[in-house]
Amino acid sequence: MKQFKIAVIAGDGIGPEVINEGIKVLKKVAELDSGFQLDFTYFPWGCEFYAENGRMMDDDGIDKLKAFDAIYLGAVGFPGVPDHISLWELLLKIRKSFDQYVNIRPVTLLKGAHLPLVDVKREDIDMLFIRENSEGEYSGAGDWLFKGQEHEVVLQNGVFSRKGTERIIRFAFETAKKEGRSLTSISKANALNYSMVFWDQVFEEVSREYPEVETASYLVDAAAMLMIKDPKRFEVVVTSNLFGDILTDLGAALAGGIGLAAGANINPEREFPSMFEPIHGSAPDIAGKGIGNPLASIWSASQMLDFLAMNHMVRLFLMRLSNCCWKPRCSRPICRARHPLPKWGTG
Ligand code: IPM
Ligand code: MN
Repeated sequence: MKQFKIAVIAGDGIGPEVINEGIKVLKKVAELDSGFQLDFTYFPWGCEFYAENGRMMDDDGIDKLKAFDAIYLGAVGFPGVPDHISLWELLLKIRKSFDQYVNIRPVTLLKGAHLPLVDVKREDIDMLFIRENSEGEYSGAGDWLFKGQEHEVVLQNGVFSRKGTERIIRFAFETAKKEGRSLTSISKANALNYSMVFWDQVFEEVSREYPEVETASYLVDAAAMLMIKDPKRFEVVVTSNLFGDILTDLGAALAGGIGLAAGANINPEREFPSMFEPIHGSAPDIAGKGIGNPLASIWSASQMLDFLAMNHMVRLFLMRLSNCCWKPRCSRPICRARHPLPKWGTG
């Protein structure tokens, strides 16, 4: 029997609530399947930990996490700790330290979820975003000169290495080829005259290795419009770190709401653990009320099992998800799901 060690960082806000639901499902699935076992280890890191210890995670936190097969993360960030500190010292630190350079975000409208667009068929919303996750606009390279002075200058550099750009684009081509779907690259070479011209060039170069994959290339502004006007154009999509961040929130709105959006931070070489998380954030305004939608966290748990090669269980997960109770109308950032899981979530 396979045994997987899972590090759980429930984190802040609604993180613990939604992760608890995901863990109930994972435990049930492991109980039903004689092929694998899951062993969970909890780490209390996050903003509360910061308030007590002055840091977001243990000093040797990254070393501790190395021993795990996967990391299951809730949400990071809470009022009182500046976001750029809480995120750079926990979520982004893990993504970068473990070279989780692929961020996989499905934008698929599940059966019960609300279709917000008119003149669009439900099945037209079925995209797989592959977001560069290690560099680009999130390189953290820059400076703040003459801080606080009249002539202060702030530099925030986008870093696009050949290695980093090629590997994400190649990963996307491999995925599109495996799935028999088209691949769309989203960039902005008309304005970003170095980084995105380079991105487009690499996309073009790598595409020659995959003549069987149909390709398209859009500017990010046009892509944002087309995702609304004609979402069926987008099947597998590859884009940079920041564009991927923005467009996958738009994607979440298309696919039933941010409470349904899951993400996998993958180190494809499996040299380090990969991390699975709902992408909605900590939603402090509804934390502790038990109304945060756990579906994104359950979906990310299914991505985790997928990555651990437990394929038939993933199908079970998704079936369960598509049949779940679902409140279509919600005005809050995190959709309310008062009956999160008809069966497994109550145990
Ligand atoms: C996400 C989040 C993060 C990101 C933030 C919290 C740093 O928005 O995972 O999409 O921008 O990557
Ligand atoms: Mn985001």
